Amino acid sequence: MDIQVTRTEQAKYDFVSGLMGYNSTGIGPAMVDFYETNKRKLGPNPDLAATKALMNQSTAYKFGAFFEFNDHAMMFETVLGILEKQKDEVIEWLDTHNEPGALGSLSLNDDVKPPRYYKNVEIHTQPGNYHGSPFAGLMYHWMIGPFLCNRDNNDEMGWDLANGIPKGDYRTIVDLGCGIGKSTIPYCDLYPDAEVYGVDYAAPMIKYGHKFAEQRGKKIHFVQAQAEDTPFEDNSVDLVTAIWLYHEVNRKGMDEIAQEALRILKPGGKFAIMESPPFKVLNEQYHPLSEFLLDSTGRRMEDPFIPLFFSLDRKEIFETAGFSAVREEGLPNHLTGWSTDVNYFFGSYPWWMTIGEKA
Ligand SMILES: C[S@@+](CC[C@H](N)C(=O)[O-])C[C@H]1O[C@@H](n2cnc3c(N)ncnc32)[C@H](O)[C@@H]1O
Repeated sequence: MDIQVTRTEQAKYDFVSGLMGYNSTGIGPAMVDFYETNKRKLGPNPDLAATKALMNQSTAYKFGAFFEFNDHAMMFETVLGILEKQKDEVIEWLDTHNEPGALGSLSLNDDVKPPRYYKNVEIHTQPGNYHGSPFAGLMYHWMIGPFLCNRDNNDEMGWDLANGIPKGDYRTIVDLGCGIGKSTIPYCDLYPDAEVYGVDYAAPMIKYGHKFAEQRGKKIHFVQAQAEDTPFEDNSVDLVTAIWLYHEVNRKGMDEIAQEALRILKPGGKFAIMESPPFKVLNEQYHPLSEFLLDSTGRRMEDPFIPLFFSLDRKEIFETAGFSAVREEGLPNHLTGWSTDVNYFFGSYPWWMTIGEKA
């Protein structure tokens, strides 16, 4: 469906998108400049608390924190304003699925509830979280482009992982926490003979994902389920993936999702996740401000599990679940190179893949 956007609404959306981009390309480098100029005040190997105390003196950081919170709020308010006006048509469109001739499918299940750890959370300040608004998929899509400075408009993140996973004869592929399917789509092109499934607990995300995939001619089967408890048979899947799921689930969920991946994989099957590198890697190999920026963003933007997840040993999560040959690898990151060589937030570091095999 063509969402109707007036010129005034488009101008507002473009303005807010520009602000979001400026957060990365303008304010980010200003924070880095402050850090570089003042880091001599910190001792060698400063910890997070010391970096935080320093950065709290930075006007660029204080403004950036305020700016980040408010540009997200303005973005969601702008998109909701556009959609609310044509609410009935948009909802009817989203509610029409599995039409004759559809390549893929959408399988909804009213029994699937939001994960318990999302009680009272609006993740990264999205109104209603992923499940509480019929427009969640559209809100996410319209936000994520500008948030990533339009460097994921061709699903670059999804391709980064898909290309990083060793090539294989994958017949059944399951992408957990698939959202609107941007991380799922590359497998349709890379493994055209495979059955590709996208799993997400949130109906509004996959309803839009189904529309989006069909529009793009991609055969994806979207399934509403918690990643901790999917409807796939034991030993039935060749490859399980997840991008940007793990940092959004609680500690127990992280273990349960790895156990679920192990259960559904065939012997020899692979489980691969992609996130930013853990704090230890960021501190030792990349810019020390990255840890502070990720940690503070998580706390400020209602991404409550970021500080915990980035402190954990991901290999241990995989091994405890029973995966073997677990390894981690930096992958090319097409979101980098926004401005300076030490970029805000997604930094000049690679993506971090954790991959294991079912023995
Ligand atoms: C940050 S989005 C990432 C979406 C997609 N992987 C991408 O890279 O574009 C996280 C997605 O995970 C889903 N999610 C979060 N917790 C989940 C869970 N326990 N089970 C299934 N899906 C979950 C959310 O609904 C959301 O769509």
